[in-house]
Amino acid sequence: MQPDPKPLLPEEGLDPQDWSAMRSLGHRMVDDIFDYWQSIRDRPVWQPTPATVKAKLELPLPLEPQAPELVYQDFRENILPYPMGNIHPRFWGWVIGTGTPLGALAEFLGAALNPNMGGGDHVGNYVEAQVIEWIKQMLAYPASASGLLVSGASEANLNGLTVARDSLAGFDVRSKGVQSSPKRMVLYGSSEVHSCIERAADILGLGCEALHLIPINQNYEMDLRALKEAIAADRRAGFQPFCVVGTAGTVNTGAIDDLQALADLCQGEQLWFHVDGAIGSVLALSPDQRDRVRGMQRADSLALDLHKWMYIPYEAGCSLVANREAHRRAFAEHPDYLARARGGLAGGTNWFSDYGVQLSRGFRALKVWMSFKEHGIHKYGRMVDQNIAQAQYLVRLIEQSPQLELLAPAPINIVCFRYKATGLDVAELNKLNQDLLVNLHESGLAAPTYTTLNGMYALRVANVNQRSRREDFDLLVEAVLRLGRELEKEFEPSSGVR
Ligand SMILES: Cc1ncc(COP(=O)(O)O)c(C=O)c1O
Repeated sequence: MQPDPKPLLPEEGLDPQDWSAMRSLGHRMVDDIFDYWQSIRDRPVWQPTPATVKAKLELPLPLEPQAPELVYQDFRENILPYPMGNIHPRFWGWVIGTGTPLGALAEFLGAALNPNMGGGDHVGNYVEAQVIEWIKQMLAYPASASGLLVSGASEANLNGLTVARDSLAGFDVRSKGVQSSPKRMVLYGSSEVHSCIERAADILGLGCEALHLIPINQNYEMDLRALKEAIAADRRAGFQPFCVVGTAGTVNTGAIDDLQALADLCQGEQLWFHVDGAIGSVLALSPDQRDRVRGMQRADSLALDLHKWMYIPYEAGCSLVANREAHRRAFAEHPDYLARARGGLAGGTNWFSDYGVQLSRGFRALKVWMSFKEHGIHKYGRMVDQNIAQAQYLVRLIEQSPQLELLAPAPINIVCFRYKATGLDVAELNKLNQDLLVNLHESGLAAPTYTTLNGMYALRVANVNQRSRREDFDLLVEAVLRLGRELEKEFEPSSGVR
């Protein structure tokens, strides 16, 4: 006997119970954020998240509803005051962009429509297709190339290197796996190549050791003679070289490998030429700078970031691959439930899930599309020039100050330097500059970050900030000198630290 059916419950949904209250809350959020943006200069760049807030962020899973107004209040009190700080004009840490107001509003619009950008015939996929066309045009990359918006350059590099591996393995890697390779596949990058390339080698099953690091010259660019020798030696040793990664703008110093020469070399050696253009590909937007990245357009695959030096809100990167069919072959899968229809919602040709690891994808194309239209590409080119000019202004301030030392050439927008107290050895200077940076961050005045070059700890300014002005660099230098002098006292012999 069938049990009695359960009584039908009233149905629920997740839309607001009170639309007009939610609408006013939305308006309030927009107003609050505009106030926040407009007063950003008056705020500390960064401040620590207080213990009380951290404790609140360990509270257990909410089981019962809270009013949206209260949830927002919680955001205002506990989250809004303690962000990373990268929208501030004096944030120059790692290589982190600032975003823009329209970019942020576009994120809201994209999330409101909430399409899944993996495939199907809907306007979002046409927007992404147009954005990809625009990116190719702005970089002068071949028009026939395929492209995909991704989370960032780490994923874009992985995407391009997957196509490289599959195209040059000489057998069907997707079916057989890398373990079927008769020879160990190896790839090359300079010793300054970004760590995500090594991670890609790992994820692709090649192993981190498959990435052979080539020494650099005094400008931190890959030594081409050493590269040629390494390829020849590896071939003799029974390896299978398949790819060279050139970097357009290294993370440490902004060095740009000789991309034209690398393209020639790869052509001669029949290797895949991949360019990591996370930072520097956008130099192509500036008539004054574009010669520096000539040769990038000959790359078989190119990874770039839009959330760095294009100021698009996180996350936005892009992978371009010259051979569209090779790109598709590396990722496409067509189970029954993803078959293409001759029309309707499952029709169309822009199925971006054929070109990367994500099936479900967000509408990141919208913020790029709206931002490019808002500013026009010429303005972005001028912004790139401006950031470089500001970095060069900082270089001059450093050179004019006997207590500061430039630690590497600064060809574009990245400047590495340190406070130099007389009479301290390298270890002491490293300690002093580490402490100085912590104090600088905690002062809330500015946020560069750090790297280590030839054993020397460097304060590192990576300027992809659309809000910085020259006076911000004056303030930075003043603060570094002041904090350096204070710390130097602690290193006096009498203090016992030395
Ligand atoms: C040269 C270079 N490549 C790749 C990356 C990784 O980019 P993302 O953080 O967007 O994944 C970075 C990040 O700074 C970078 O500087």
